[in-house]
Amino acid sequence: MAHEMIGLGLRPAYYDDVLASTPPVSCFEIHPENYYSAGGTHFWLEKIRSDYPLLLHSVSLSPGSAECVPAEDIARLKALADRYQSYHISEHLAWSRLGQTYFHDLLPLPYTPESLETVCRNIQQIQEGVGVQILLENPTVYIRFQESMPETEFLTEICRRTGCGLLLDINNIYINSINHGLDADAYIKALPAECVGEIHLAGHQRQDGEMLEGSDRRLLIDSHDAAVASDVWSLYSRHIQCFPECPVIIERDSNFPPLDELLAEAEIARTIRARAGYVDNPETDKSRSCA
Ligand SMILES: [Fe+2]
Repeated sequence: MAHEMIGLGLRPAYYDDVLASTPPVSCFEIHPENYYSAGGTHFWLEKIRSDYPLLLHSVSLSPGSAECVPAEDIARLKALADRYQSYHISEHLAWSRLGQTYFHDLLPLPYTPESLETVCRNIQQIQEGVGVQILLENPTVYIRFQESMPETEFLTEICRRTGCGLLLDINNIYINSINHGLDADAYIKALPAECVGEIHLAGHQRQDGEMLEGSDRRLLIDSHDAAVASDVWSLYSRHIQCFPECPVIIERDSNFPPLDELLAEAEIARTIRARAGYVDNPETDKSRSCA
């Protein structure tokens, strides 16, 4: 696993700036689904890959679906990983496919023994297909089932049974803590830190309108269209010692600011790490393998 890496989500809005300026980050993360066609986006990706490692953050394998993961979906992910020598691969604890229908949302699942078996079967299938351990991201959920086990226990058991790792999205934890009145610090402490292989930081929106039922809080939406919130930075700071060697990715998926604003957020992450005693060097880290 890579060490001391701070990177950005790579979106087409930044191709030109990245190539023109080779910014001081250690890696970029992409959604592989954007590169499954043979189109021109590979022109950009090949150039960027020559300077930076790429992390693959899948959104379509749907490990929470009752059906097995289609072999062709795994095969195209493996082909992309092989093409770019990018074997740091993650997915979400969610489902987004029913039969041949793919949804644009990452939908929640109940945390039951039956769904645990299903997710583990699908994770194993993915890992066998791509030939590497994958990381599973903790989701943002807007409804909660009367599940039989807490999410942290569910994730821990998936790691134990399949050997997969965790992608810890700090923003998702914060959003769930506000929307559902949960303890974000306790959530992080309940997970096996040694399984965490990557950190996500992103922005969210606070919805206007009525307060959440029975509370003085308003609903938060996992929008990825704003700067990382100060509370999310604080949560990351409080727990950085649990996973000091994980790559940290700043995610932005809409309302794209100038690249410099994202680089400023990467610098905040670097400063937090330095304050905690972990010093990063983007120039040397850039050449490190992500696999
Ligand atoms: Fe994320």
